[in-house]
Formats: sequence, structure tokens, C-alpha cells
Amino acid sequence: MSSRRHFIKQSAIAGAGISMVPNLTFGMNNNNAKDVLKVGMIGVGLRGTNHLNNVLQRDDVLVTAICDIDPRRVTIALDHISKAGKKKPEVFSKDELDYRNLLDLQDVDAVIISTPWLWHTRMAKDAMKAGKYTGLEVSAANTMEECWDLVNTHEETGTHLMILENVNYRRDVLAVLNMVKQNVFGELVHFRCGYQHDLRFVKLNDGKSAYGKGVEFGDKGISESAWRTQHSLLRNADVYPTHGVGPMATMCDVNRGNRFMSLTSHATKGIGLHDYIVKNGGKDHPNAKLKFKQGDVITSTIETANGETIIVTHDCNLPRPYSLGFRVQGSEGLWEKDGDRMYIEGVSDPHRWDSSEAWLEKYDHPLWKRFGEHAQGAGHGGMDFFVINAFVESAKQNIAPPLDAYDAAAWSAITPLSEISIENNGEPQDFPDFTRGMWVKRKPYNWMKDNY
Ligand SMILES: NC(=O)c1ccc[n+]([C@@H]2O[C@H](COP(=O)([O-])OP(=O)(O)OC[C@H]3O[C@@H](n4cnc5c(N)ncnc54)[C@H](O)[C@@H]3O)[C@@H](O)[C@H]2O)c1
Repeated sequence: MSSRRHFIKQSAIAGAGISMVPNLTFGMNNNNAKDVLKVGMIGVGLRGTNHLNNVLQRDDVLVTAICDIDPRRVTIALDHISKAGKKKPEVFSKDELDYRNLLDLQDVDAVIISTPWLWHTRMAKDAMKAGKYTGLEVSAANTMEECWDLVNTHEETGTHLMILENVNYRRDVLAVLNMVKQNVFGELVHFRCGYQHDLRFVKLNDGKSAYGKGVEFGDKGISESAWRTQHSLLRNADVYPTHGVGPMATMCDVNRGNRFMSLTSHATKGIGLHDYIVKNGGKDHPNAKLKFKQGDVITSTIETANGETIIVTHDCNLPRPYSLGFRVQGSEGLWEKDGDRMYIEGVSDPHRWDSSEAWLEKYDHPLWKRFGEHAQGAGHGGMDFFVINAFVESAKQNIAPPLDAYDAAAWSAITPLSEISIENNGEPQDFPDFTRGMWVKRKPYNWMKDNY
């Protein structure tokens, strides 16, 4: 790519609430590439504001429009934009469909959608139809029909969609991907991953602050408790599979020479949210009467066309420290995130784990070597910088993103498939082939670059 690519460090530090990463300026040598990408932000809640702050650090992005139905979030976003010394964008906050007016703007090349899950696919479809390069938060879709909608709309319009899966850019994940590409693990056989995150205080709060005490949700909740908890109440499914499965799918080339074939899922009983409500709101609180449908620990096993298995866990309603529980295993050895350990036959002492630290350092990914210092303040340990960087660089050139509509569909399909499998006592469910056979000849994305 670019030999002209360079950073310009600016001494001015952005205002309060904005991370202290120096501004970056990126020059492109692709003649068709835009120098400046005009971005519309749809949804500026907690996540959208994080993305906003990251794009405000860049001289190659202009935020020309923002949209959110909550005036408090609009005020916060405008404040961040003004403190960053940027021009006031157009604001859309009239009602739930006002985002469509944002999509009508000529002055928007690309959109970043960070709204509640039920809005994701409908907004992404409208954005692609309007010709806007589309960045979509995770999980991308809720139903099988929505998964197909993403693929069909991408194919019909020719507009690109990137699923903004930041965990694919985590430093250890990219180092392990580097090891996979260099064949250190040999032929890949088995993966484990999941979303294992105690979200009780996110799904339930006091309606005043996102992580406040309290056991309210829905209309009485704030931020994610206003919408996410409803999915736990009504769906027994892995509703958030992509943080875990995204990195694993990339390592085993899903949709590019490999694909998900089938899945079985099992759910435990669901007691965690009820217990939390009783403990913190008392047994007479109206929410203590609710029966949450979602099992506390949901375990899905995926089989791939190349003969690997991937165990995906959803574990968000019980007390536990955070872990995505990664394991990457091949014919020559394995990495396990829990325990931070590595074993490579012929290099490690026989039958003894190595600490993974030296391995991950040795195989540090070129992206992190180059941008790691700048990424630090970007959110989630730096990975949020890289996912937005990949989005912006791909959108400026209007080329296919690293994580595309087929990935968004295949990864998100775990939600409806796990739901049907659980309902039918673990009955195997087939994945649709979202690539319509093209996985056979699609080439793996070149992940080993140092630019995006
Ligand atoms: N990748 C990650 O690490 C990560 C982290 C957090 C959240 N997320 C994802 O980001 C998304 C948003 O999560 P959040 O934590 O910011 O939630 P949030 O509730 O804080 O923000 C959502 C925002 O969308 C707005 N909104 C709702 N309907 C709208 C509409 N029709 N038009 C315009 N705005 C609308 C809400 O007013 C709110 O401000 C979710 O999909 C979530 O899963 C991803």
C-alpha cells in the first residue's frame, strides 16, 4: 500500500473524555481513494461515543452527521466534537426513523451503526441501499432472515458492509493469528471461545447510570439494560457470539476455503438474573417474579467443512471474572488464554506448559508493532483503534473490508441456530452457505499487513 503513509503527531491533546492518542494523518497512494472520509454516526450511546472519539483523533475522517433518539447522548457527542475542535455535524434525533434522513445526505460516505441489536440489520440494509459504506456493531443480526438480508442487500447494491468485531484485533489474538499463518500450530483441529462476562450489573441498573446499582431494565433502565435484557427474558439462545467466534473463524478461514457446517447447542437452567434481582432489589421487587428464558451457560459446538470443531460459550448471568476463553489447537500444539499458556511440540518441554508471554511477544502482529503505542487509549486495550482503522482505510478506498457481510451473517447465525437446537434438545442444525458456494474459491484475506 502506501509509501506516503505517515503519522503526524499533534501536541494538542483532545478535551476531557477523549482519549489521549495523538492525531493521526494517513496518506493514501490509491488514486481512487478518498483523502477524507465523511462519516455519519448512527447511535451515539456508550459504544457509538467510543467510536466517535476514535474517529475524532483522525485527520482523514470528518464526522458530518450524528443520529440518536436520546437528546442526552446527542449533547454529549456534540460536546466531544466541539472539544476536539471539529465542525458541528448535522443532527438527526426527531424519531426512530430519522436515521433515514441522515442516509439521504450527500455529505455522508460511510456510516457507523452502534444502536441496539434489533436496529442493526434494518439500519444496515437502508445504509447499503443508500450507497453508504456500512460499519455495523456486533452482533450483526438476530434472526436467520436478517442474516440473509445482510448478504442479499450487499450483493444487490454492491455496497460493502464491515462487521466491527474489535476482538479480531486484540493483541494476543493477532499474535496467535500470526502463529497460525506461520504454521506454528500445524494443521488446525479445535477451537474454544465465548463471551464469558458477568453482565448482571449491565443488564440491570438504576435507570440513572449505566453501571449503577439497581435491578431495573426496559423502560426503567438506562443504556444496555434498556434493550439487552429483554433478549435474556425472551430468548434461550447465544445472543452474543461474535466476540468469541469472530477471531476463531478468521483463523480457520471461514467463508474463504472453509465454512461453518452445523451446530448443536445446550443451555443450563437460568437462575443468575433472578438471584441478582432478589439479592439487590428484594424478593418482593416486581422483577423478582420474572422467569428469564435464557440459560445461564449456553454451549454450542460448531463443525466446519475442514473438520475442525469450535466450542462457543455464552456465560453472562453468573458471578465470574471476564474471559473469552480462547483455545487454538492444531497438530503441533495449542494456545489457551485461560492460564495464559502455550505448548508447541518439540519446542516446549514435553508435557509442560510454557507461559504464553514470550510466544506472543515473538509473534507480535505487524499492526501492533507499528500502531500499538498510538492505539493504547482507544478503548478495550487498544483493539478499538484497529477495528476503526480497518473500517476507515477500507471505506476510503471503497474496497471489501477484512470482516464482511458473509462473516457478519455466518457468525450471527449462531443466535437463531442455537435457539432452535436448544429448543429441540440439542438437535444438530445446518448453517446455510451464505456465500452460495463461493467459499470454495474465495481467498483468505491478507491479515499479515502492517497498515490495516
Ligand atoms: N464491540 C464491542 O466491544 C461493543 C461494546 C459495547 C457495545 N457493543 C455493541 O454496540 C451497540 C450499542 O451498544 P451500547 O453499549 O452503546 O448501547 P447504548 O444503549 O449505550 O447505546 C445505544 C444508543 O442507540 C440509540 N438508539 C436506539 N434506537 C435508535 C434509533 N432508532 N435511531 C438512533 N439511535 C437509536 C440509543 O438512544 C442509545 O444512545 C450494541 O449492538 C452492542 O452490542 C459492542
